[in-house]
Amino acid sequence: MNPVVTIAKKRDGRELSRAEIADFIGGFATEKIPDYQMAALAMAIYLRGMTTAETAALTDEMLGSGRVLQWQDDGRPVVDKHSTGGVGDKTSLILAPLLACCELRVPMLSGRGLGATGGTLDKLEAIPGYRTNLDTDEIGTLVNSIGCVITGASQELAPADRKLYALRDVTATVPSIPLITASIMSKKLAEGLNSLVLDVKWGSGAFMKSAADARALANSLVSTGERMNVKTVAHVTDMNQPLGRMCGNALEVNESLDCLVGKGPADLWEVTELLAVELLLLTQRAPDAAAAKEILKGHITSGRALAKFAEMVAAQGGDLDAPRPLAPTAEVLSERVGKIRSIDTEQLGLAIIELKGGRKVLSDKVDFSTGLEMLVRLGERVERGQPLVKLFAHPQQREVAERLIREAIAVAEE
Ligand code: URA
Repeated sequence: MNPVVTIAKKRDGRELSRAEIADFIGGFATEKIPDYQMAALAMAIYLRGMTTAETAALTDEMLGSGRVLQWQDDGRPVVDKHSTGGVGDKTSLILAPLLACCELRVPMLSGRGLGATGGTLDKLEAIPGYRTNLDTDEIGTLVNSIGCVITGASQELAPADRKLYALRDVTATVPSIPLITASIMSKKLAEGLNSLVLDVKWGSGAFMKSAADARALANSLVSTGERMNVKTVAHVTDMNQPLGRMCGNALEVNESLDCLVGKGPADLWEVTELLAVELLLLTQRAPDAAAAKEILKGHITSGRALAKFAEMVAAQGGDLDAPRPLAPTAEVLSERVGKIRSIDTEQLGLAIIELKGGRKVLSDKVDFSTGLEMLVRLGERVERGQPLVKLFAHPQQREVAERLIREAIAVAEE
């Protein structure tokens, strides 16, 4: 194969064959194709897009660049959820133990914060001792015994994606639906799943700012999953304000614990329930949505979901009883009377990064104690001087975070 011919063909908008994609990704993964040629192909894909068949082939080749987890059939289907990420999105912490209570196995391989959105691994590391670096054997053992783990993806799974993502990041080719699809699906399918539910967020705090773009990504993810014989369903959900009230690592663990006993905020439970119901239906654990909701409610009210979360945390070395310190609090007050017209949710995520609750560069150390509590929701009426947000911040970072938050929440007089 001549890589230059493949790049030129894609640049001219012609369909690549399975063999061309296989040669290219295989060559890139094994360093036979240099980064500059892969970058040129990524740009051609970014500009020209890909057909469904090409996207599925790209996904399959990236998946095949590494190991795929193997599961013996023990009657419990293997399932997972992927969210494209949002501010305050802590559904993974609630969903994994809840599904494990429903006789499903959940090898949830998660990531760290990406831009303004928090990362599930960072949240869980707010629990002292929690290990997010389980190896493949330990993932297998724990998922088979407990029913779920939440850990980082090992280097052995979809290594071509890791390499390609780093290149896309520095060549402005991240926002491409086929490249995002292959990236997300190769990592998720490496878990050896039977069924997958996707939460594609849209809005001011999401990767996809418009609902139409989110729907296009959702369609691409679902058709790729189905082509690869994994039952896949996607929901497009709203990220025009944080999910739940709490944003920040230790704060989000605390809110997840509330949700696991039925005391969480309604919007957080709604999204969690929507995704869980979908997996119960896909795996035929429930005949219909109403029955699925009853099953889920039963695990919450009986305390089983919380007990399962505690079991998973303990198995991964975490101590749920150890203190999770929170930074000192301060309130951000409304400067005028009116309605909450819009929230720049991404900017709230950036405020948390200023509080060291997220990273500017990969090597930054995260402060689990910081974050914010939303005291208002879109459309609510507020008085002048009314607290909008409770900030958990160290004094030296407070001023800049307060400014970002005040700018992010638009209060309209009418
Ligand atoms: N998340 C991923 O895992 N990959 C992308 O390309 C974008 C978001």
